[in-house]
Amino acid sequence: MKIIKTADYNEMSRKAANIIAAQMILKPNSVLGLATGSSPIGTYQELVKKNVAGDIDFSDITTVNLDEYRGLPRDNDQSYYYFMNDNLFNHVNIDKERTHVPNGMVADADKECGDYEALIKELGGVDLQLLGLGHNGHIGFNEPSEEFDKVTHCVDLQESTIEANKRFFASIDDVPRQAYTMGIGTIMAAKKILVVVSGADKAEIVKKAFTGPVTPHVPASILQMHPDVTVVCDAAAYSKIEA
Ligand code: GLP
Repeated sequence: MKIIKTADYNEMSRKAANIIAAQMILKPNSVLGLATGSSPIGTYQELVKKNVAGDIDFSDITTVNLDEYRGLPRDNDQSYYYFMNDNLFNHVNIDKERTHVPNGMVADADKECGDYEALIKELGGVDLQLLGLGHNGHIGFNEPSEEFDKVTHCVDLQESTIEANKRFFASIDDVPRQAYTMGIGTIMAAKKILVVVSGADKAEIVKKAFTGPVTPHVPASILQMHPDVTVVCDAAAYSKIEA
C-alpha cells in the first residue's frame, strides 16, 4: 500500500486525477470503478478539465459504480446515478451506454446484485477502482460486520452512515435505509485501487484502516492485503498516522 500525503483537498484531487488519467492514457479502453460521496468530487472536476483540454479521452472507457441506494429513483438528485451524471458523465465525452450504476429501483435484490456482479465479470473486471472512505471504515456501502461480504449484495445501512449522509437529504427520514453495493471481494478483484480521503474527521479511521489490524469491523482494512493500492490523503486526514 502506498500512501501519498497532500497539503489539502485540491492537491489530493489533482494527484488522484493524474493517477486516473495515466490509467486512461495507458489503457484507453479501461474499465473504471467509480465512487460517490464528497471525497471524489474534486477528482471528477479535474478529470473534466483534462478531458476538455484534450489530455484524456473517455470514448472507449467503461465505468461501473460501487453502489446505489435501494428504492431511490434514478432522477432523484440524491441517487448515485444522478450524482455521476451531474459530477462527471454530463461533462465528458463518455458513451452513457458504457456507464453502469446498480439500479436501486429493481425490487428483486438478488436479481439486481447477481446481474451486476455478472456484468463486471463480462467486462473483464475493473482495471482501476476509485474509493472514498466512510467514517466507520466502510467502502462502497460495505458496513462493519462480522465477516467480509464477497459479492454485490443488499445492505442495511448503519445508523452512523444514515446520520453522515443525511446532510444531502431534506431530512433524516428521507435517507434510504438500504443500498446495493459491490462486495469486498468485488472491490478486491480490481487490478488497481485508488482511495481518496480528506479532512480531520477521517484521521482516526485512516489510521485504523491503513495501519491497524485487518478486520471486517473496519472493512477498508482489507485493502492492506491488496497488491496495488494507492491512498491519496490530505494532511488533515493523515494527521493521526503521524501523531
Ligand atoms: C458514502 C458512500 C461511499 C463513500 C462514503 C464517504 O456512504 N457510499 O462510497 O465513500 O460514504 O463519503 P464522503 O466522501 O462524503 O465522506
